[in-house]
Amino acid sequence: MAETLTTPRPPAAGVGATRSEEVLVLDFGGQYSQLIARRVRECGVFSELLPHTIDIEEIKRRAPRGLILSGGPASVYADGAPRLRGELLELGIPVLGICYGMQAMVLELGGRVEGASVGEFGRSHLHVREHGRLLAELPDEQSCWMSHRDTVYEAPPGFTALASSSESPVAALENTERGLYGIQFHPEVVHTPYGGAILTRFLEDICGCDMSWTAASVVEEQVARIREQVGNGRVICGLSGGVDSSVAALLVHKAVGDQLTCVFVDHGLMRKNEGEQVIAAFRDHYKVPLVAVDAEQRFLERLKGVTEPEQKRKIIGAEFIRTFEEQAAALGNPKYLVQGTLYSDVIESGGGHGAATIKSHHNVGGLPDDLEFELVEPLRMLFKDEVRQVGLELGLPERLVWRQPFPGPGLAIRIVGGEVTKDRLEILRDADYVLQDEIRSAGMYRELWQSFCVLPGDLRTVGVQGDERTYGYVVVIRAVTSDDAMTADWARLPYDLLERVASRMINEIPQVNRVVLDITSKPPGTIEWE
Ligand code: XMP
Repeated sequence: MAETLTTPRPPAAGVGATRSEEVLVLDFGGQYSQLIARRVRECGVFSELLPHTIDIEEIKRRAPRGLILSGGPASVYADGAPRLRGELLELGIPVLGICYGMQAMVLELGGRVEGASVGEFGRSHLHVREHGRLLAELPDEQSCWMSHRDTVYEAPPGFTALASSSESPVAALENTERGLYGIQFHPEVVHTPYGGAILTRFLEDICGCDMSWTAASVVEEQVARIREQVGNGRVICGLSGGVDSSVAALLVHKAVGDQLTCVFVDHGLMRKNEGEQVIAAFRDHYKVPLVAVDAEQRFLERLKGVTEPEQKRKIIGAEFIRTFEEQAAALGNPKYLVQGTLYSDVIESGGGHGAATIKSHHNVGGLPDDLEFELVEPLRMLFKDEVRQVGLELGLPERLVWRQPFPGPGLAIRIVGGEVTKDRLEILRDADYVLQDEIRSAGMYRELWQSFCVLPGDLRTVGVQGDERTYGYVVVIRAVTSDDAMTADWARLPYDLLERVASRMINEIPQVNRVVLDITSKPPGTIEWE
């Protein structure tokens, strides 16, 4: 089932409200805004991304140690460009403006921002003229990542211009007395080698943070929160084998023990041994009450003759819900449902701030809106990498912690252009196993976002093995690198690895006589084939 289930959720605000030390990122719509919050957390300071329109009283109430103004796609002069409210610069809280955030600050305070004839996109060279407080102890010359067309030509009165680049006369500035700082480049991306150092300088030296937050510190806090929410109520959790639902379940189990029952619906569309691994980890190792439902038969029955991708998804989604509801009823309909909702889901679904809409197909295999559960969402404030850290902290096996994303409808959407049958699932599972095995042995599993096989269901091709003509299945290898599945590139797997994979597949799986590699990036392709 999908790692991300959706039913209505409470608003995000207040997630970090009890934390004594936090730095808030105000979102002006930049593509890297989430990443800024992630980097701040990596530095050891809790951070949340909030809309730039957030009520100033709310900021005062939370009393963050610092504010970061994100980048944004607009020109500060564009119609409807998000405006920076001057009061935000008067709160006595240090402010760091990044890219658009800096330009908006400069504009507000009377400096000069203009559209440059040439934009500056990608790697650029930063020349530090004065180090000031923000760039103290950093090299005079460094590379950085830029993405802007408007440029600051003159710092506002009272500010010191610290650095320039080829297209930015003022690429960094500060007013230490007022606690206002700005950089034109993006410290949050890896292509700015001193980005982490600059963020640390801002957080530690300028905001005075103690830099001690870790994802693991969330464990105790969440355990307390879950206990408070659930009391002595009964809780149910749909386990998918993915890291999100696994970590969420373990946190809840730590909080309320056997009040939790996990339900693992094995729809027969999982990868090889995956169901057994989930059962071994939860039931045997963690002693979490677990109902494992062998539902292969009924899913395959419903999928008979179906080839159209969306129809498959609908059928699997509906069947999943039916199975889950039956189990919930058998357990006396617990009041609470655990969901592995992540912070990025909260942001993407607009829970944080009316931003982008979530990709609808990601919810297939999830639960519908009208189920009568109260949600327990212990991962609502965590990014994916942080969930992994918490998983490791809780002793979750590495295999589960680092598992690549796997779609809710499972292998059913990887048998394309033909019916999903048990035989074909077996072939695909075996092929997938060979691929994973070789990729793991080559130490490449973690660097790939996803690696899997696709089986064109009705297609056969001619081959020759021994002295005999064969007529067999084609297996497609699909391996991609990506940060977030929104875009992806095909992975350049080494030739010798590909050769081993192909020859093992053909030797070990009698029905397969040809192996091909998918070299389409996303866009224009998608990661899955349907
Ligand atoms: P695409 O194929 O659209 O996939 O590039 C992007 C990411 O979403 C996953 N995916 C799904 N996940 N239910 C899911 O839970 C689905 O129906 C589904 N379809 C695609 C895909 O594996 C990739 O990670």
